[in-house]
Amino acid sequence: MARHRWTPDNIPDLRGRTAIVTGASSGLGIVEARELARAGAHVVLAVRNADKGRKVAAELPGSTEVRRLDLSSLASIRSFADDWSVDLDILINNAGIMLVPEGRTVDGFELQMGTNYLGAFALTNLLLPYVRDASTSRVVSMSSQLHIGGKIKLDNVDGTKGKYNALQAYRDSQLATVYFTAELQRRLEAAGSGIRAITAHPGIARTSLNDHVTGVRKMFFLATLWMFNDADHGAYPALYAATADVPGGSYVGPDGMGHLRGNPEIHRPGLAARDPELGPELWNVSARLTNTDFATV
Ligand SMILES: NC(=O)c1ccc[n+]([C@@H]2O[C@H](COP(=O)([O-])OP(=O)(O)OC[C@H]3O[C@@H](n4cnc5c(N)ncnc54)[C@H](OP(=O)(O)O)[C@@H]3O)[C@@H](O)[C@H]2O)c1
Repeated sequence: MARHRWTPDNIPDLRGRTAIVTGASSGLGIVEARELARAGAHVVLAVRNADKGRKVAAELPGSTEVRRLDLSSLASIRSFADDWSVDLDILINNAGIMLVPEGRTVDGFELQMGTNYLGAFALTNLLLPYVRDASTSRVVSMSSQLHIGGKIKLDNVDGTKGKYNALQAYRDSQLATVYFTAELQRRLEAAGSGIRAITAHPGIARTSLNDHVTGVRKMFFLATLWMFNDADHGAYPALYAATADVPGGSYVGPDGMGHLRGNPEIHRPGLAARDPELGPELWNVSARLTNTDFATV
């Protein structure tokens, strides 16, 4: 019997729903915004470069708008949230950077940890009171199989201690994201909310995220990239997590070789992401660092 493979054609009618996709000015975010808008949602492209976002939005179907959001600045995140005033159905924490040279966010966090994890953490907390309490409502956060090999050090969640290792910092930010989603789901359930928090990852997808890969890794990467996902397939897990009947707390990625390519399915995160004590502790440290915390209406 042929196996049913999910594609964006399976997205239900989203008319009347509102979605935010962060980092919708490039790569997977464009596809996520495009498919949600095609299904009828009003999609807000939350981007750090508004001109770039407007060029993307001009090519998208349906109802879209562009708003400025720099996840490497808590002030920008607060300003975005302060301007928000309507019900929200889907938040996709998609924006991210990988293997960038050593740097700091405006607030002094290591750049990858600050942008990929702490920025999304703060944004989610500030927007959560607007997310409609319904089983169709989602907070989807993008992670990576590279979370395997990540380490969470509770005395260094902002990543500023020790010598900078670009790959380790990316791994750590992706692992923190998996813990964040699991803990968010636990808190939503404890609060009696129907909103679902889900982690998605694209496997490997051909996008500009990989521009900072260098040296031998780059040669290997360029030689093998054709085997993996194009941006469209890379976006499927996030779209599936955002619109299919996926249980809260799930980890969704491609179903093919090593979960690095293919169509979306639910699978298990790595062992590093399964410490039951760590989620609540990481949450508390992150809440202190960002001065934001869990709140529903
Ligand atoms: N591609 C892969 O193989 C892969 C694998 C695992 C996980 N992921 C994850 O998938 C997500 C999407 O990545 P992608 O492959 O689509 O990469 P991409 O093409 O480089 O897109 C990343 C997006 O994030 C935005 N962004 C970066 N820093 C930001 C900031 N400070 N504030 C707001 N937006 C910011 C970028 O904005 P600009 O357009 O202005 O640059 C861009 O729109 C990321 O979270 C990434 O970690 C991707």
